[in-house]
Amino acid sequence: MGNRVLLIVSGGIAAVKCPDLIRRLAARGIATRCIVTRGGAEFVTPLSLAALSGDKVYTDLFSLTDEAAMGHIELSRSADLVLVAPATADILAKMTHGIAGDLATTALLATDKPVMVAPAMNVRMWEHAATQSNIRALKARGIHVIGPAEGDMACGETGMGRMSEPADIADTVENYFQNSGRLLGRRALVTSGPTFEPIDPVRYIANRSSGKQGHAIAEALARFGATTTLVSGPTRQPDPAGVHVIHVETAAAMLAACESALPADIAVCAAAVSDWRAADIAPGKLKKNDAAATTLTLVENPDILATLAGAGNRRPGLVIGFAAETDNVLSYGSAKRDAKGCDWIVANDVSAATGTFGGDDNTVHLISADGTDSWPKMSKMAVAERLAMRIADHLGAPERTLQ
Ligand code: C5P
Repeated sequence: MGNRVLLIVSGGIAAVKCPDLIRRLAARGIATRCIVTRGGAEFVTPLSLAALSGDKVYTDLFSLTDEAAMGHIELSRSADLVLVAPATADILAKMTHGIAGDLATTALLATDKPVMVAPAMNVRMWEHAATQSNIRALKARGIHVIGPAEGDMACGETGMGRMSEPADIADTVENYFQNSGRLLGRRALVTSGPTFEPIDPVRYIANRSSGKQGHAIAEALARFGATTTLVSGPTRQPDPAGVHVIHVETAAAMLAACESALPADIAVCAAAVSDWRAADIAPGKLKKNDAAATTLTLVENPDILATLAGAGNRRPGLVIGFAAETDNVLSYGSAKRDAKGCDWIVANDVSAATGTFGGDDNTVHLISADGTDSWPKMSKMAVAERLAMRIADHLGAPERTLQ
């Protein structure tokens, strides 16, 4: 039997794209059953959703006829995946707080299946602290957020908040069905974020790494089924769902945590580890007139990637590093691969104009012994997904399970 999606259509103008979304899912062999909220039904008729999905459309929690056809608990579990598209600010807030006042929100609270949401709302509503905090909470719970995209909105404003295109949503759903479980039985180790190297009890050396790319990679590997440990420096990213996260501050602590996570089949070093640390950490806060404060003596930090790549019989089978460069990205990336002894380098351009540092998008080149593969600009989440696919392709079926 093919894969089935329970599509929850909430009340936004993007609901008019749901017929197209259903068609595109069907073209990928994915069947859809719909729940439409009262607001959703103002934008797209249940009749058109029923005609395209070839199934009854459910609208009302307290309908005797609906409950007779299928109880709301059964309905919430009748598919392999629940997709909320469009997901309004309202339904996201209700999901965050477990409010279940209608059929759609009751199904979302009752389901035991993975949930994806495709937000769609005005840019200010999207950027509002309440929505952003809800999104963080939902992500931390393992809900996969698709988009939103940037562009013109029905309200006349422009910005972030358009629902992702139906083709992109359908691709994400299809990828999920194709990839979940491909890394079952594998163990993955990912580093992410910056390190903080103390100078005295209140000051430290750090960098601008946001941790977005590393966290997205850990999340993707876990979604593919790998038992994943994320060793993260201080970031504002929520802990990805289904991932064992070890929080550290210094490079030395990051290395120790990585070594404690071995053995692993896969290591992805995406952290921006400080190259140096203070030779001596002042026990008390340095004073402005303290002669020692004007000269900082630095010593080199351990190279975590090189250490893992050279770990002898404890070396992970596939070791992947990042090369963040501002120029000569390919040649420096390839030199880094040799210097560090890793298998693949993901080289990316972080010059200021690209907005990669802290931004949501990345343009990367995957450098391996087989050559260089340049990927188009895409979201950091899409880079993570594609990298996880390449890792799964490379490793093939699990031969053994590490203890
Ligand atoms: O800083 P650099 O350009 O050498 O970083 C390249 C790669 O090496 C990245 O994957 C980074 O995570 C890793 N690295 C590391 N430990 C360091 C420095 C870099 O793991 N001390």
